[in-house]
Amino acid sequence: MLEIRLATIKDLPSIQQLEKRNGEPTNEDLRVLFEVDNPNEKCRFFVAEENGKVVGYSRMHFYRWNNSAYVITVLVDARNRRKGIGTRLLEAMEDFAQKGKSRVMTFDAASDNMPALQLCLKSGFKICGYNDKIYRNGKTAIYLAKEL
Ligand SMILES: CC(C)(COP(=O)(O)OP(=O)(O)OC[C@H]1O[C@@H](n2cnc3c(N)ncnc32)[C@H](O)[C@@H]1OP(=O)(O)O)[C@@H](O)C(=O)NCCC(=O)NCCS
Repeated sequence: MLEIRLATIKDLPSIQQLEKRNGEPTNEDLRVLFEVDNPNEKCRFFVAEENGKVVGYSRMHFYRWNNSAYVITVLVDARNRRKGIGTRLLEAMEDFAQKGKSRVMTFDAASDNMPALQLCLKSGFKICGYNDKIYRNGKTAIYLAKEL
């Protein structure tokens, strides 16, 4: 059975494995991000666990200055895709953001990342802008938002 839950630091090795298997590991220090929890910014990781195995994860940042929640990552292990896990992770983050009284949830994905863009559109996000300078690989970032 699939369970979506808030991650703890004990999930970090599984999250790093997912990143590694996905082939584009982040250059961020995820351990440090687990500790981001102050009055201005909070970071939360969520994991999707199936039969005790982490098969997906997501990360969200909460900003006080504009009372918003930013989805930084949603990643599902390749062999577990298209089973609704990405959707469940988004739902869990939305629920958490609503409880924290966030106004809006935002997300960005490369313009050629159809799975991510379709996932968000299907979950009720709307395209709200783009930025062709922000990614290191030169791809264009498409911004999406969902009012809560
Ligand atoms: C994006 C990602 C998280 C989607 O996860 P997922 O568990 O496969 O998503 P879901 O099964 O919940 O799919 C929900 C909807 O998204 C869309 N979608 C998902 N994968 C798709 C694909 N390969 N092509 C087109 N649409 C797709 C579909 O509309 C799908 O609904 P449907 O299956 O009923 O048609 C997954 O593909 C992934 O991990 N990609 C690599 C990491 C990444 O790019 N993350 C986003 C940027 S951080």
